[in-house]
Amino acid sequence: MKEVMMKSMRLSLIAGLLLMLAPAMASASGGGALKHTEITFDNETLRKGLTVFTDVCMGCHAAKYLTYRNLMAYPELGLSREEVDELRGDKGLLEGLITELSPEDATESYGKVPPDLSVITRARRGGGNYIYSLLTGYESDPHGKVEDGNYNAYYPGNRIAMPDPLAWFEHDESETADLEEQARAVSSFLTFIGDPHQLERQRIGIWVMGFLVLLTFVLWLLKREVWKDVKH
Ligand code: HEC
Repeated sequence: MKEVMMKSMRLSLIAGLLLMLAPAMASASGGGALKHTEITFDNETLRKGLTVFTDVCMGCHAAKYLTYRNLMAYPELGLSREEVDELRGDKGLLEGLITELSPEDATESYGKVPPDLSVITRARRGGGNYIYSLLTGYESDPHGKVEDGNYNAYYPGNRIAMPDPLAWFEHDESETADLEEQARAVSSFLTFIGDPHQLERQRIGIWVMGFLVLLTFVLWLLKREVWKDVKH
């Protein structure tokens, strides 16, 4: 009997360790050689990210699953009706954020249609860190092959059809921090709109973990009580 118990205890210990390691293993496989930035969903960051998105990215990209009503509804953004009205102009509240650039013009100018960014952080390995790396990853081609300024260290194949969208921050060395902050903000914003309910899930997750710990403790007490009088 004792042997069986020892065995099952060892097994549950291993299972516990695996459960604890699972999230670490999952994130390790998604990291790769990307730069790492702090993706945050605080009001200041998300608002800055929204501004970068509407002022810069929307020149070419849409986020068609993000409606103006969504923008108004997220408490993390905290936008007033007036602010949303100003953003949408004559667009309807239920319309998504659409770019003025037509697919035809995009193809003519860049050779490619810029992808919709509504859920891009979920479609790319590395999510927000990938977007951040991409936006701060323009440099001159070390092999001198890509000469039009579209060499990007983090894009597969290294030649991206998107011209450096935050380029003007780089004219002056002192603006680098600003470039990084803009990139961080818009990466956070895109991560947020890609999965706005993750905050809620995280909160629920903490309660679930707490509950499981408590349950384990209660079961352990119960086991002790049941086995108390059994002679080993
Ligand atoms: C001048 C037009 C233009 C602007 C402005 C622009 N993009 Fe792009 N973007 C493109 C094009 C074109 C592609 C397609 C690139 C390719 O597949 O080679 C692209 C692709 C992307 C991709 C997908 C890369 C991949 O892995 O396939 C992301 C992410 C992206 N852009 C983010 C942004 C963000 C964020 C902004 C705003 C800061 C922005 N873009 C501004 C034209 C633009």
